Amino acid sequence: MEEEEAEPHVLMFPFPALGHVNPMLKLAELLSLSGLRVTFLNIHTIHQRLILHTNLHSRFSRFPKFRFHTITDGLPPAYIGSLTKLSVLTQSMEAVTKPLLRQMLLSGELGPIPTCIILDGFFSFMVDSNAKPRIPVLCFRTVSACSFWAYSSIPKLIEEGQLPVRGEEDMDRMIEGVDGMENVLRCRDLPSFSRVGEQTEPILQYCVDQTIQSSKTQSLILNTFEELEGPILSCLRKRCRNIYTIGPLNAHLKSRLPGEKSPPELESSNGYREVDRSCLAWLDAQPSKSVVYVSFGSVTVIGDDQFREFWHGLVDSGKRFLWVVRPDLVAGKDEEDGVPAELEEGTRERGCMVGWAPQEEVLAHEAIGGFLTHNGWNSTLEGIVAGVPMICWPQFADQLTNSRFVSEVWKIGLDMKDVCDRKTVAKMVNDVMENRRNELMGSVLKTAKLALTSVEEGGSSYCDLERMINDIQLLRQQRQVID
Ligand code: UDX
Repeated sequence: MEEEEAEPHVLMFPFPALGHVNPMLKLAELLSLSGLRVTFLNIHTIHQRLILHTNLHSRFSRFPKFRFHTITDGLPPAYIGSLTKLSVLTQSMEAVTKPLLRQMLLSGELGPIPTCIILDGFFSFMVDSNAKPRIPVLCFRTVSACSFWAYSSIPKLIEEGQLPVRGEEDMDRMIEGVDGMENVLRCRDLPSFSRVGEQTEPILQYCVDQTIQSSKTQSLILNTFEELEGPILSCLRKRCRNIYTIGPLNAHLKSRLPGEKSPPELESSNGYREVDRSCLAWLDAQPSKSVVYVSFGSVTVIGDDQFREFWHGLVDSGKRFLWVVRPDLVAGKDEEDGVPAELEEGTRERGCMVGWAPQEEVLAHEAIGGFLTHNGWNSTLEGIVAGVPMICWPQFADQLTNSRFVSEVWKIGLDMKDVCDRKTVAKMVNDVMENRRNELMGSVLKTAKLALTSVEEGGSSYCDLERMINDIQLLRQQRQVID
């Protein structure tokens, strides 16, 4: 075995879903800004859509040491990952993508052998720690520390008989014995896959396994900040050797980008859908803090009945709203069933609907006063950074724990999980926009300030990113090349 000193070269590989690719791209840009050589590996289909709808190439072409490469997930081109097909995707990636990645590494197709891999911890199986070439892996998890910690605790809760959550039981029952979450976590706040009958589902097992694997890696990277999740991070540090908290990545990237704010058309966009920028002009015409922004992220699908309850609730609230209705948001849409006149009229007067919005710009807009969200972690952080109070309607996975922390721990929003009727929607909108606005705004603005301070020079996330970059530089000396 011989030791070789090589130029630091980071290979980054996100799990193929927008909520994972977005933050990994932001991290790639931050590492490139620090001068590191970075190779970003993406699944073909995801990459093609990003190229089509974002400024990816112009964003990264300014870094001479940055390269994109793509690889197949082994599935037909039309396939777009969804959670119901998670096992199909992961099995295919293990069988097809994993050996291909090894081959690409050995053949030099990805450039000089990387001195470290930043791998999405949601598919930690992608790199075997003992396989040659042996390359140190830093594991990036794109979820909150609180949901990561909740997932880590599931095996213990099953052992103690606190799980599974049974059909007839009180969903408000408190979960006991999870450090840092005493008197906070109820059955209904656990990651969704712990619910009735799903305990043995492979998806729960998969999420728990990946979380446990992530805790065991040399280093864990989290898109969060110390001042938000300090107590939970202290618990996590007892299990994980080394954690870098470098978020919120959107704010961190903005604070490190040199020079003036770029023109809007060069702003990095967050999606693989065509962005409808007309909503910004609509927002320009609305009074300050008068609009509630509604978005359920990139993958959530809702039923037609739920869609209609939300629509009625928004109109009945009497407040203005901007709603992202993706073409695939509503399942089983009844096209025959026309739109009631009061909804059409209310929307014409006070509403705007788009297929995909420039979310970060929207949240930062002066007219936005509230955010009705599914609490995907990216959206939650974007809401925090923008200082916008939330109405939480989480749907699956980490979102259920995130929303509990938003409402009960950070006190920056109201949680309406498991409820979906027009009366509740209208009430929540009025509470966030009016009745409880003062109490929420106090903590939201404080939390936003903490977020921004953490990414400024000397802040906790700023320093942790510096430490990580420094450690990556040192890792080159550890790489063992093939015999
Ligand atoms: C998924 C999971 O749902 C989430 O729970 C997990 O934390 C990450 O992966 P997703 O549901 O898409 O992600 O939610 P989220 O994490 O909030 O990411 C959505 C991204 O799409 C955000 O960065 C948001 O800015 C962007 N977006 C959404 C837009 O740019 N425009 C839109 O109209 C809607």
